[in-house]
Amino acid sequence: MDEFSKEIDRSNTASVKWDLIQEVDNPEKWLTTSSYFGEDRTLPMWVADMDFASPEVVREALITRAEHGLYGYTRTDDNYLNAVTDWMKKRHGWGVKPSSIVTCPGVVPALHMIIRAFSESGSKVLVQRPVYYPFFSSVAANSKELVSNSLVLENGRYRMDFDDLREKVSDKETNLVILCNPHNPVGRVWTKDELLTFGQICRENDTLVIADEIHGDLIMDGHHFTPFASLEDFSDFTITCTAPSKTFNLAGLQTSNLIIENSTLKRKVEKVLRDNGLIGLNLFGLTACQAAYNHGEPWLNNLLGVLNGHLDYLESFFKQQLPQLKMYRPEGSYLLWFDCREAERDQMKLRKKIMEDAKIFLDDGFVFGDEGKGFQRLNFACPRSVLEEAMHRLQRVFG
Ligand SMILES: Cc1ncc(COP(=O)(O)O)c(C=O)c1O
Repeated sequence: MDEFSKEIDRSNTASVKWDLIQEVDNPEKWLTTSSYFGEDRTLPMWVADMDFASPEVVREALITRAEHGLYGYTRTDDNYLNAVTDWMKKRHGWGVKPSSIVTCPGVVPALHMIIRAFSESGSKVLVQRPVYYPFFSSVAANSKELVSNSLVLENGRYRMDFDDLREKVSDKETNLVILCNPHNPVGRVWTKDELLTFGQICRENDTLVIADEIHGDLIMDGHHFTPFASLEDFSDFTITCTAPSKTFNLAGLQTSNLIIENSTLKRKVEKVLRDNGLIGLNLFGLTACQAAYNHGEPWLNNLLGVLNGHLDYLESFFKQQLPQLKMYRPEGSYLLWFDCREAERDQMKLRKKIMEDAKIFLDDGFVFGDEGKGFQRLNFACPRSVLEEAMHRLQRVFG
């Protein structure tokens, strides 16, 4: 059995994905699921981590480092910084200097800090709903107003609404936009042309861009990822958030790398991190990131083969067995976005059917903003056996 087919028991590992579940009637209330293990378990296919073990090269590097026995304060040395920049170059053809890397314990903490760093120049932050919901809390936690340049679903594909974007960023209070590339949850990998138009509008309006590119290594066949800040002069007004956490399943190691080529912006971000006590890096996060970027590429290519195969399976299953549900084949990420409106319009009834009848725990579309109502997001980074079990459960309820 290959490493992507093996079901690994994640019970008693303090896993957010496997230990926590919401109450069916109350999405605000969380329960622990220890009693749910076993045949009758609810399948957790929500939060974005994978049920695959990280590459062996990463595990070996962590074991070697753990055996050293000394876990003192850790800095980002040249070996680490070069591993990050080499990865950007070999994977995405993007040449960035080691001196433009700023580390942070996660992309979500970085979003909070960046919004805080630039808070004096405007009161509104623009996002493109339906979108990753911690964007909303990072805006709210910094007492900013959220503005949505909502995506448009047209002929089975999401696109950006550039007229609306232009109008919204021309408001001087909107000084910051968060771009999600590839986009979670709709799965679009924005094309170079789309990014060019997006960037030109932001540049004309002196708008700072936070490019969240955490899913940028997870690109499906037939699509090409372009780092936003690699285009034209966009790096002058962009802070790019990257991490090895989605790519190599390292989210628990809380390590992300911001790429900030404009030195004035970089100094501002470094200052806000320092002022909030977020200095230094987790030793094991550093070790894992460096090993993954230096030696993990063959594993990633195998993973992408598995995920593309899962998508072929999902596409034909949805078409043949679940015609009432409409899936949007993601161009990037391991998250599947599907439309349930034809099957069930009532949000709470839909949730009940999925959680109680199918016994699967997904992310409700409405948490990504009103634009996501009637949709669900399913994390398909799991062994095929689990995915097939989930699909047959959905078929029993919606087929
Ligand atoms: C778009 C996006 N940004 C950020 C994160 C989380 O980043 P981190 O775990 O580094 O805080 C996720 C996780 O799902 C995500 O989808």
